[in-house]
Amino acid sequence: MPAQTPRDHWSSRFGFVLAAAGSAIGLGNLWKFPFITWDNRGGAFVLVYLACIAAVGLPIMIAEILIGRRTQKSVVGALQEALGRGWGLVGGLGVATGCILLGYYTVVAGWTLSYLARCLRWSFTGFPADYDAGAAFGALVTDGPVQLVLSAAFMALTVAVVYSGVGKGIERVTKTLMPALFGILLLLLVTALSMDGAGEALGFIFRPNFGELTWDGVLEALGHSFFTLSLGMGAMITYGSYLSRRESVVRSAAWVVVLDTLIALVATVIMFSVIFSVAGMSDHLGRSTAGMLFITLPALFYTEVPFGPLLAPLFYLLVGFAALTSTISILEVAASYLIDQRGVSRKKASLIAGGVIFVLTALCGLSLGAWGPLSNFVVFGQKAGLFATFDHLVSNWLLPIGGLGITLGAGWVMTREVTRAELADGTQPRWFRYGMWRFFIRYVSPVAVAAILLAVIVFGRDFS
Ligand code: TRP
Repeated sequence: MPAQTPRDHWSSRFGFVLAAAGSAIGLGNLWKFPFITWDNRGGAFVLVYLACIAAVGLPIMIAEILIGRRTQKSVVGALQEALGRGWGLVGGLGVATGCILLGYYTVVAGWTLSYLARCLRWSFTGFPADYDAGAAFGALVTDGPVQLVLSAAFMALTVAVVYSGVGKGIERVTKTLMPALFGILLLLLVTALSMDGAGEALGFIFRPNFGELTWDGVLEALGHSFFTLSLGMGAMITYGSYLSRRESVVRSAAWVVVLDTLIALVATVIMFSVIFSVAGMSDHLGRSTAGMLFITLPALFYTEVPFGPLLAPLFYLLVGFAALTSTISILEVAASYLIDQRGVSRKKASLIAGGVIFVLTALCGLSLGAWGPLSNFVVFGQKAGLFATFDHLVSNWLLPIGGLGITLGAGWVMTREVTRAELADGTQPRWFRYGMWRFFIRYVSPVAVAAILLAVIVFGRDFS
């Protein structure tokens, strides 16, 4: 092992909260959540989602940050030290999950670059009257070389940030991008609320209609709460390991959870206000997640939204920022594993991890039609191709399995003395009750996560 240099840290709790919120706020909020809310008919689903975030997401978020801050190690070393040597396997699974997740996430992130470029062009030259949104999107995803260029560009951005370190790279970039993201979102929200569809959108999202709620919807909300909060693979353990012991675990966790939830709701209000402003549009919405963000919205920006030509590029810039602060956190899990466990320098680790994962990314990018053999095979029933298979694996299997490991570890393996000393250490907020957390992490979260796995294994459900 090379001489140990002191571990890099966030400069403050604010730095950690923004970086961790950057990880949490991503395509999950802007791409998946609005769609599953639509798919599950809004209202009641949103309420159930909020309950899942509070009852399962927050306790596990606290557990991950606790384990990271306590051990000051990245996921494999952290779980070994906090729970016992064998638990390194759960950490290893987390690293593998990160590689697979980044494999397909980067592909979607790359699309945001393409739509950003398109919107910039349209804003200057005008929106083409004969634009066929569905066909254009199809042409993009099936164009192999373009997929490779876009995802390579996005991966290069991600590697560059992780390469520069925790304080000088990740923290500096998230401190710039996140305020920009909040600003753009506010601008969009104000505009969207001025549109005719705003009332209907708010009703759809916030008026519970329990008649429409299904058990699948409940499990989907539960599964999504993992994905959107970046839980289940040690991303928050890793970020927590750069948190100084002076900073509160509970306060940090609560901030990240609140910000992520707020942004998901705001993004959904914006998108639905725009969509409901067009008569009949809601009937035409496709059944694919990609549809809303990349097919329906671009045209609406130019035909319906006030100041559309100004806001459209800003919107895709925002989606790109959100995706970047998330890809950074996923790559950091793999890079920090190489750094902490294999003694590789940060610069080398980020290049190696980025390079290896890019192979997966390239294959995923080609699996949407560009290359037949990768696009057409079917492993898990309904969905074809490597991209869909990866998404299925991560959302249905890997994150829930990792999450189950972490809740069981934090609730049943770590002792009450240890976790209490970490959480009720004088830095916790007044509303926090240690006993409540312990109850949730021991009973509620494991049962909830087990329910997801059971539905997937026994009933063959698909929540990706
Ligand atoms: N939370 C991010 C999103 O909503 C995605 C993400 C980043 C993630 N890091 C993660 C998901 C780690 C699971 C685990 O887009």
